[in-house]
Amino acid sequence: MVVAPDSYPGGREFDPRPWYFSSMQNPIGIIDSGVGGLSIASSLIKKLPNESFIYVADSKNCPYGQNTREEIYKLTTKMINFLLKQKIKLLVIACNSITVSCINDLRRDYSNLPIVGIVPVIKTAVEKTKNKRIGIFSTLITANSSYQKDLIEKFAKDVFVLNKGSLSLVPLIENLNFEAVDGVLEKELESFKKGNVDTLALGCSHFPLIKDRIQKHLPGVLILDSTEAVSRQVERILAHENLLSKTNNSSYNFYTTGDLKTLEYFVSKLTIKAKTNRISI
Ligand code: DGL
Repeated sequence: MVVAPDSYPGGREFDPRPWYFSSMQNPIGIIDSGVGGLSIASSLIKKLPNESFIYVADSKNCPYGQNTREEIYKLTTKMINFLLKQKIKLLVIACNSITVSCINDLRRDYSNLPIVGIVPVIKTAVEKTKNKRIGIFSTLITANSSYQKDLIEKFAKDVFVLNKGSLSLVPLIENLNFEAVDGVLEKELESFKKGNVDTLALGCSHFPLIKDRIQKHLPGVLILDSTEAVSRQVERILAHENLLSKTNNSSYNFYTTGDLKTLEYFVSKLTIKAKTNRISI
């Protein structure tokens, strides 16, 4: 099965079909089941300071991983339709669960919207490992997905791969319960220690938000997230289409369907002037 045009699910880049909204000034949309995608937003804002962003966190329905593929698709289309009303020029799916469950269906059904997804940087992990032992730490749905298994088969055939999913971390991060996060990490990272992996790819956008905590449990292990790869891909596509904004009057709007406090906590770490709001979609 072919999983992506190259190592990364950047999508139908350079597709000649017309885009819905192709003005440089239009914002970039970012979605996630919750606040995890703020790790991607942070990287994008730094890389593309002239761009405006609209972020939707569906924290009310988080985690998505507990749903069926059909439910995930339905919840995701609600966020996309909300963003299309605001004329986004490109969509970033900053959620591995959505990407592995239904990015191909979304690309088919929104064929005039360029969509960039997110998966763990398995290929980079294989390039970086010195002892040929890598770990992939994601949510359970992503760890068990055929999408991820295909990526492992494609890029990591020649190394030892420890592919592990967590069920409990995402809700704890959404609840800002960092004490409990540390307890879970202690238990769940043990197998990576025992497995002697020297490189760990994160397969959940919530996890870069707790990267320092993960690192504390795995000293000496190289921890890779996908934030830079996603940002590079977005820049590449917009540059190719001559759609990068050239003026610096960017705006940043963050919406959540859930608890505003959680959103505000993580948005405040971005140190930008941003608006935060609760919505129902
Ligand atoms: N941030 C999502 C991800 O990257 C969280 C997972 C979920 O809601 O299932 O997969």
